[in-house]
Amino acid sequence: MTIVRAATREDLDAVVDLEAQLFGRAAWSRGAVEAEFAGLGETRHIVVAVEVRRVVGYAMLLEVADAADVHRIAVDADHRGSGIAHALLGALLDKASSTGNLAVLLEVAADNAAGLALYAKHGFVEIDRRPRYYPGDVDAVVMHKPLEPTR
Ligand SMILES: CC(C)(COP(=O)(O)OP(=O)(O)OC[C@H]1O[C@@H](n2cnc3c(N)ncnc32)[C@H](O)[C@@H]1OP(=O)(O)O)[C@@H](O)C(=O)NCCC(=O)NCCS
Repeated sequence: MTIVRAATREDLDAVVDLEAQLFGRAAWSRGAVEAEFAGLGETRHIVVAVEVRRVVGYAMLLEVADAADVHRIAVDADHRGSGIAHALLGALLDKASSTGNLAVLLEVAADNAAGLALYAKHGFVEIDRRPRYYPGDVDAVVMHKPLEPTR
């Protein structure tokens, strides 16, 4: 069974390892992931998906003023296709609503079919493009979702 919960500092190593494994040369450094964890409970919110005490997915949110930004969402390749990203993103969006955000923004590579479909299912719509933003001259699609704050 997979559970999704708020990350703690004890999850740092697992997230660093997964980040390197899943994103390769584009992975955030340990220092960059540490910076995300350093803001936990303040400007940063991180959720992890855990299966038998092993972290198999994570998602990160940055809050800026009254908007939030999805920084990362990733699921271990062996655990994809079973709704874990749905659960992680749902948890982040609930968190963003509960802390008073009016909108969530994100960027996703235009050739990332799974990411685009995931975000569309959660109500994100394309509002802009950044041409050749990613390696290989891949555009970034900027997506937006308005929120109903629950606070
Ligand atoms: C994108 C990613 C997070 C999806 O994780 P996942 O746990 O397999 O996703 P889920 O099983 O929760 O599926 C969620 C939705 O994503 C979409 N999706 C997932 N895999 C897909 C695929 N191979 N092709 C097309 N759409 C896909 C679907 O819309 C799916 O909803 P549905 O099953 O109701 O149709 C995962 O593929 C991943 O980690 N990719 C590498 C990192 C990445 O690209 N992150 C996103 C941008 S930072």
